[in-house]
Amino acid sequence: MRKVDENKIEEILKELTLDEKLDMIHGNAFFHTKGVERLGIPPLYTSDGPMGVRYEYHDANWVPVGLSDDYVTYLPSNTALAATWNRELAYETGKVLGEEARGRGKDVILGPGINIKRGPLCGRNFEYMSEDPKLISELTVPFIKGVQESDVAACVKHFAANSQETDRLMVDTIVDERTLQEIYFPGFKAAVREAGSYTIMGAYNKLNGEHCCENKELLDKVLRSDWEYDGTIISDWGGVHRTKEAAECALDIEMSVTDNFDEYYLANPLKKLIENGEISEETVNKKIRNILRLMLRLKMIGDDADKRAAGSFNTPEHREAALKTAQEGITLLKNKTLPLSRKKLYGKRIAVIGQNGAKIHSNGGGSAEIKALFEISPLLGLKMGLGGNTKVEYAGGYYIPMPPQQKFATSWQETSLMSKEELKEFCAKNGTLESGETKEQIEERTRKLKAEALKLAEECDEVIFVGGLNHDFDVEGGDRKDMKLPYNQDELILELLERKPDMTVVIFAGSPVDMHRWAGKVSNLVYMPYSGIRGGEALAGILLGDVNPSGKLPETFPKCYEDTPMFRIGEFGTEGRVEFKDGLKVGYRYYDDEGIEPEFCFGHGLSYTSFEYGDITANVIKSAEGTQTVQLSMSITNTGAVIGKETVQVYVADKECSVYRPKKELKDFAKLELKPGETRTVSFKLGEDAFSFYSVSNKAFVTEPGEFEILIGSSSRDIRKSVVVTL
Ligand code: GLC
Repeated sequence: MRKVDENKIEEILKELTLDEKLDMIHGNAFFHTKGVERLGIPPLYTSDGPMGVRYEYHDANWVPVGLSDDYVTYLPSNTALAATWNRELAYETGKVLGEEARGRGKDVILGPGINIKRGPLCGRNFEYMSEDPKLISELTVPFIKGVQESDVAACVKHFAANSQETDRLMVDTIVDERTLQEIYFPGFKAAVREAGSYTIMGAYNKLNGEHCCENKELLDKVLRSDWEYDGTIISDWGGVHRTKEAAECALDIEMSVTDNFDEYYLANPLKKLIENGEISEETVNKKIRNILRLMLRLKMIGDDADKRAAGSFNTPEHREAALKTAQEGITLLKNKTLPLSRKKLYGKRIAVIGQNGAKIHSNGGGSAEIKALFEISPLLGLKMGLGGNTKVEYAGGYYIPMPPQQKFATSWQETSLMSKEELKEFCAKNGTLESGETKEQIEERTRKLKAEALKLAEECDEVIFVGGLNHDFDVEGGDRKDMKLPYNQDELILELLERKPDMTVVIFAGSPVDMHRWAGKVSNLVYMPYSGIRGGEALAGILLGDVNPSGKLPETFPKCYEDTPMFRIGEFGTEGRVEFKDGLKVGYRYYDDEGIEPEFCFGHGLSYTSFEYGDITANVIKSAEGTQTVQLSMSITNTGAVIGKETVQVYVADKECSVYRPKKELKDFAKLELKPGETRTVSFKLGEDAFSFYSVSNKAFVTEPGEFEILIGSSSRDIRKSVVVTL
């Protein structure tokens, strides 16, 4: 964290009146607080989100300003970034986001979103990175550093354990201490201790009985005391429910979605409690210190206030960076006949079938919505990539019924805090039109589109199906009910495969879908997360072989929902209370333990080339202070015919331990590019944290002496080499 002049903070604090202080600790508009003009203290401007800088809203009306000055670079999602397993790209992407945020005059960008993808149904999975805390930590740190280089604060979110959307404002999330420390906290701990995230967002949900934004155990004990955090804690929008509790805990700023700003919990209601002596003004002073420290760090005030970065947005460099991340965030799951050959396609016809071939996604998803300068769809990307010697044709393939037309609020966020009853009342007053289509009309339109698609498939030489999900499913505020592909895509895929067994299937989605009805039959299968402004161009580059895919799944793709720990152990998607009974068994940790074969495992991803792993050499180094480090090195060779990137993954298995431990856990990884025939040595240094577990009795991470097996692989289940070390 950038050190600032604490005396300066005290000086300014002394000058502030109580009213001026209160103005600084709650929203005075949907996305900014009030400044103190008299003292040259500006408002604090925040903006969403992890995939780019959101468009401008009016201060107190959920209506977009709607000018033409807030088009931006639409970045690949945090899922796409996680699938790159590339720390440099994480930094680059963060840097772009920071420059764009500063360019738009923002002080805080409300990202990255790093909640654990505990299961496949969470509506916001598309915004988050992974099921694994190590992968999250290793990418979050460079991302935040990149953001903050532009004198903009990252706001890592949502702290903590906000891993479902169902009843997200009120659900009491029950997680045991060890699971929090080993699974749900590490990403946030790395964000504040290693990356120095200037701000952090308190989550909506309750954690073990208390709302996160009023939770002394979480904010005062874990964040402020254990992790020594001196940054600024901002509530999620409507995450505060009580004045006294929020005032007396470590939260600094209350934001929300209603326009009664002076009635916010930390506004007049707090003023009353201070005036009647129930709460001391010192509780406010603590918050002001953190806010002034943030403003000094961002050069908003103080001696450097004339040296603040200007930022920039919509630059070619930003679009280049977005393309690189998109290319490395697309994962090749199966392959028989890819890449396509331009030569073979000369004079031929290629069919792109499926709504996601042509659909634009940037403007959806909830608070992550982006007004993209443009968005290249797969269809456009392929036409750009093939040029005029191949006819690229399109058929929607399946029908997407019109969603109920909401004729009231311009933004879902206006009603996002309402309970079911309040919403019903609000709709009754303001009216909501159910979609005007009858079931028969939908079936007729589905039949027609499918017939057209099957006919086109028969006529064309090559077929690329692009289906999956969209922001009707990958969306804030709700969870999916199942993992099924919507709109009858399964039947369409099966019928297309009968006609074109070698067709390519692209699943364009923010979270895993159930593929088991056709995954065994398909030859070429690609997973594409929401990949930003040039996503379709990245996909085309991969399908045409200009780019060798190097993505690795950042989460398990289970065969079906019934295989998941959510279903078998629970709980997920419950209202009122959700207990993480699965504990440490999140993602591959569960499937490994239970011996359940997923459709595609954590860390899986193919290449157009192949890699050979040489033998490992391992040395245990003991330091003078007695700490032990395991040094590993091995050679990797590109044994194929094209240049490619491989992510070497390092898992640790504790052979004997006094407590339960997952079969293996990711503890490091390295991504390296190799030319055909090239061999390089890759080395890893594993500190004690790679072998430790959290001891609830000791209230600390401990390493028990004994044997550990180190497994090195190209995925969590494609282990190439292993070695046993004794600590
Ligand atoms: C939303 C989201 C949060 C977002 C904030 C502001 O409800 O939970 O991620 O940054 O409110 O839009």
